[in-house]
Amino acid sequence: MEMKIVDLETGKKKDKIIKTIEWGSKSATKENHEHFMIKEILEQPQAIKQAIMQDDAKLMKMAIGILRSRQVIITACGSSRYAALIGRYLFSKIGGKFCDVVMSSEFGYFADSIDKNTLVIAVSQSGETADVLDGLNQAKEKGAEIYSIVNVVDSTIARMSDEVLYLNCGPEIGVAATKSFLSQMIIFYILAFAMNNKIDYARKELTKVSDLIEKSLPYTMETTKKIAKLTKKQNDFFYIGRGINFAVASEGALKLKELSYIHAEGMPAGELKHGTIALIEDNTPVVAVNPNDNTYPETLSNAEETKSRGAVIIGIGDKESHVYDYFIKIEKVQDIFYPIMCVIPEQLLAYFLAVERGKNPDKPRNLAKSVTVK
Ligand code: G6P
Repeated sequence: MEMKIVDLETGKKKDKIIKTIEWGSKSATKENHEHFMIKEILEQPQAIKQAIMQDDAKLMKMAIGILRSRQVIITACGSSRYAALIGRYLFSKIGGKFCDVVMSSEFGYFADSIDKNTLVIAVSQSGETADVLDGLNQAKEKGAEIYSIVNVVDSTIARMSDEVLYLNCGPEIGVAATKSFLSQMIIFYILAFAMNNKIDYARKELTKVSDLIEKSLPYTMETTKKIAKLTKKQNDFFYIGRGINFAVASEGALKLKELSYIHAEGMPAGELKHGTIALIEDNTPVVAVNPNDNTYPETLSNAEETKSRGAVIIGIGDKESHVYDYFIKIEKVQDIFYPIMCVIPEQLLAYFLAVERGKNPDKPRNLAKSVTVK
């Protein structure tokens, strides 16, 4: 097939670069699933394998760029910001690089401290979010370098970046981010391991994680569905975790709010006692994101503090406890990879709670997939 692009006013032919986008039509249908969201959740093992397919030279260039920058600021909105928070821990834990995460709608208020020695990393599924774009424009004006982690090929954010890593997860139709969130996390893992010159190792380990998720999905679906049935009448949920698990807890709470309209808060488990514990009543569900890493005993003891005030504890992890009223078991992985395992039960719990409450998880009220206004 031949195509010609002409200027409407002059009628003259215009030369345009034609790019092929590798997204198949299959990804735009629900296939045999009830909702796009569940389809996209189930696509995640494959999404991991696609996200690790990055060019090594580019990864190394970006890793060196991150390590050499005087300051690194990651900016994003919504779920992408929680992926960024996880990335922040990974950069510190694996790459030894401290960086900050600033939500894009607040980014401009920090513009004074941005200069040409600043590297700004934007994270966005759509690549079109107005708040992110606004922040990046301000950063550019100040001479900062821009990297981005984006799903939509050739989107505005991708085009204005000095370097881009694409998620490669295909179109995401459900309004709430699932596979794009997980893919963003994977990009952060691979970038952080690149800082350590361990890209091959990261690929190998992430492939194993992907296989373990695939294996555990039927159990996780069954368990979260049961818990959703038992907790669907509750109107407040709290999600707690420490360290990197706090960022994972925050995403769990956001998913629940967006989809089921249940009030939910995610917070560092150690912070509960400084206020929020006052809200715990009989039967308040508290989700403890508590894999068996170095945060396990303390998070468990924080969960127990809420239990003694009437909370019902939903534990997500690989180590059972008498503290838990319900337990969603994840597969054992190396500590650093626990966040990937813990996020899946959170997504499924939010999905089933929405369905139990008669809401359409694909189209949450008042929300848009791509927010192009400030
Ligand atoms: C909207 C969506 C969220 C998403 C956020 C950021 O608010 O409802 O699910 O996380 O935008 O979108 P982005 O495309 O920049 O990742």
